[in-house]
Amino acid sequence: MPDASPVRFDMPLEEAITTQRAVRRLKPDPIDDALLLRLIELAQKAPTGSNAQNWEFVIVKDPAVKAQLAKRNRQAWSLYGGLGRRASRGDPKMLRLLDAVQWQAEHLHEVPAIVIACLRGPRLPWPNFVSASFYGSIFPSVQNLLLAARAAGLGAALITLPLWSTFSARRILGLPWNVTPCAVIPLGWPIGKYGPTTRRPVGDVVSLDRFGNRPWKGKASGAA
Ligand SMILES: Cc1cc2nc3c(=O)[nH]c(=O)nc-3n(C[C@H](O)[C@H](O)[C@H](O)COP(=O)(O)O)c2cc1C
Repeated sequence: MPDASPVRFDMPLEEAITTQRAVRRLKPDPIDDALLLRLIELAQKAPTGSNAQNWEFVIVKDPAVKAQLAKRNRQAWSLYGGLGRRASRGDPKMLRLLDAVQWQAEHLHEVPAIVIACLRGPRLPWPNFVSASFYGSIFPSVQNLLLAARAAGLGAALITLPLWSTFSARRILGLPWNVTPCAVIPLGWPIGKYGPTTRRPVGDVVSLDRFGNRPWKGKASGAA
């Protein structure tokens, strides 16, 4: 855990991006309030549709509230975890990931802070660009938060399992009807390591001019 001196965020951007990953195993040691607020201040530098800045962040430190979120997470995990293990038989990498998710399910109530990223305002199912703009107004800020946490030496992950019931999440957090919980970010000092992460070659997800024309298939950018 760092000492009381202010945490610096001067990690090179590329290093923060390439080593940021879902860090689920976290120590219970506390995080300074000033640091938590700074992380959210950096998250707020993200864009929102029409610059509405309609985000709301709930930092949960109360053990009773954490316990309720952890319970909801375990409920969803008891279903998805079983399905995931069956589907991942013989895939050691996937089984390692599921072990980490299992660890998180058993320890979520012990992490020092859980941030719930929410949006204020109506969530319209149609037309598509309107519904995309709704969730598109929270996830850039969540990514900022994850990168800032990485640069500060904290572990974090974007999770949604505790939100399987929006009704229940609203009740646990005391959210009004017009505030939608969108993502949960448990934060703490990491027990394990950060990235690098593994991703598909960039050429496999990029088309040129028309979808499916993949001149760079199988290739990396060559810049790294
Ligand atoms: C929308 C979304 C929801 C997610 N929900 C969960 C979740 O409920 N529980 C969990 O353990 N991880 C969750 N994840 C994390 C992904 O499993 C993780 O980002 C992915 O495995 C890549 O991990 P890596 O960055 O360490 O390679 C979620 C990620 C996203 C983008």
